[in-house]
Amino acid sequence: MTHSHGETDIEPTADEIREMSPEEAMIAGAAVDGIHIVHRRDRFPVRGTKAEKRAERGVALCFLISALGGLAFIVYFCAGKWKWHLPGTSQTFRFYTPVLGATLAIMLLFLGIGLILWAKWLMPEEETIQDRHDVASTDEEKLLTEATLIQGLDDTGLPRRSLILRSLGLAGGALATVPLVALVGAMIKKPGDQLFHTMFRPRPHDPDFTETKGLIPLVDSNFRRIGPDDLEPGGLATVFPGVRAENENGYNGVTDASSPTLVIRLRPGQKVKSRKGQAGFGWPRENPQYLAFSKICTHAGCPASLYEQQTGRLLCPCHQSQFQVLEDAKPVFGPATRSLPKLPIDVQTGADGRQYFVARSDYKEAIGPGFWERP
Ligand code: FES
Repeated sequence: MTHSHGETDIEPTADEIREMSPEEAMIAGAAVDGIHIVHRRDRFPVRGTKAEKRAERGVALCFLISALGGLAFIVYFCAGKWKWHLPGTSQTFRFYTPVLGATLAIMLLFLGIGLILWAKWLMPEEETIQDRHDVASTDEEKLLTEATLIQGLDDTGLPRRSLILRSLGLAGGALATVPLVALVGAMIKKPGDQLFHTMFRPRPHDPDFTETKGLIPLVDSNFRRIGPDDLEPGGLATVFPGVRAENENGYNGVTDASSPTLVIRLRPGQKVKSRKGQAGFGWPRENPQYLAFSKICTHAGCPASLYEQQTGRLLCPCHQSQFQVLEDAKPVFGPATRSLPKLPIDVQTGADGRQYFVARSDYKEAIGPGFWERP
């Protein structure tokens, strides 16, 4: 081992190291490693002063706020009201996710601030210069490293700062519990059959749908009904279930994430090769010219809507899956493995005499990314 710095370069023997105080050994160890401590000062040479206690309380307060942030996250996750009606109006606010984010941010922010203030206010102030070196450690160096770690622990003041230790324990506990609550909590609430139904499910007894005989109209994002005349040959439109009432999660037909659907009008001469059991899902039922597919990619749920009308390919921009519309949106390229679910559609004449699309039933398959129960 080579050293280039004066007297500190002389390595102490093991016996000499054992004689030293941890701080002396740590300084000697640093010197052996080519680290020269130019300046080192205990911030509170006299223990237990008012100033030290004040600094300690400041750090503990940060950890306590962090713990409270974690606690607020857990309480809100388990029992929070995520929807709120502004009294006297029809406005609804949904802030479940923002509140979870804010409480988590408070927890992490104050944990970080507490750790920084601890180092800045309570641990010894130090300035060091380090040389580069490249050798394996000797036994003496290992002993010195050990002493450095011991002194480091002593520098944190942990053994004697029980207030900080306890409040840090609380913040650390919150940090560990939050992901656990999120994971376990998400498993407690069962999804039921909600993954297998969308808002296209017919509502035969709902007075809102008497005119359509209980079937759900296909509408655009402004709840305007869409009919065959709205599409050019080779064109497509994004449609939603025309349900204005909000479901139990606070979404209507347009805002509900499971709803987006594509209605595609084939070009003249294009014919569709239907999947088994889905031949009559398009319109007209014999020789369909209009087809409706879920817009949610079966790979990871992005909206698949880049349509090449000449070839009948529908592309998902996220990972380049391609679906062949002329074969009932079968995946022909990319990571998606399942066809886009097909919505059975029909046409009804509206009160204005125009023709409009309705969904004959809900989707027959679960929409969205594949999971373990799906074919
Ligand atoms: S989400 Fe469509 S290809 Fe991945």
